[in-house]
Amino acid sequence: MTPKGAYIKQLLESGEREIYLSEPQDIFMTLDEYREKIKNCQKCSLGKTRTNFVFGDGDPHAKLMLIGEAPGRDEDLQGIPFVGRAGKLLDKILSAVNFTREEVYIANILKCRPPNNRDPLPDEAEKCMPYLDRQIELIKPQIICCLGRIAAQFLLDTKAPLGKMRENDYSYKGIRVFVTYHPAALLRFQQYKRATWEDVKRLRRYYLKINGLPDEKFD
Ligand code: URA
Ligand code: URA
Repeated sequence: MTPKGAYIKQLLESGEREIYLSEPQDIFMTLDEYREKIKNCQKCSLGKTRTNFVFGDGDPHAKLMLIGEAPGRDEDLQGIPFVGRAGKLLDKILSAVNFTREEVYIANILKCRPPNNRDPLPDEAEKCMPYLDRQIELIKPQIICCLGRIAAQFLLDTKAPLGKMRENDYSYKGIRVFVTYHPAALLRFQQYKRATWEDVKRLRRYYLKINGLPDEKFD
């Protein structure tokens, strides 16, 4: 039996009566195969101005997925998300609550850099977000953390201000979503640091709890 056949048999045996196969050839695709499939995207004009398509980085089976806004200059040059100054700070924030960069997965709302780092246009986000959705489906994280207002507003389809979103419990496709400040905002506005620290500690405690792991102390 083909892998697809075995999968359908398994679904039927588990009592499933409605099986949706949107793109049957995609069901067993790995994240790397998916990257290969979409990396030459020209669905919006950023395809012409980018240096590199910035697909995402990290563990394809990560329990925590971080979502930023769009690649900046360093990311565009290297093809990897969050490698510039904001990325260095993000690495520090993660390690402060005992996550390593290698065990999480990092992606952005947009895969290509907007010229001069302008905000993503709604039309660009609309064309690009199916890629992010597919990454989420393949990775199946337990927790998503939106970094900054833009990521949260596009993912959660809301206009709420960041201060409000931080305090709300959201879910996206059944996955728990936390929202916190963007590390680039922390570089500019020191006063957001304390709140971010509270957010990531809360996220870590939730992660420990749902995985049945012991409490940790943070300073
Ligand atoms: N800012 C983002 O939102 N994403 C990156 O990848 C880098 C900086
Ligand atoms: N420690 C802090 O105080 N703030 C952070 O954002 C991360 C670690």
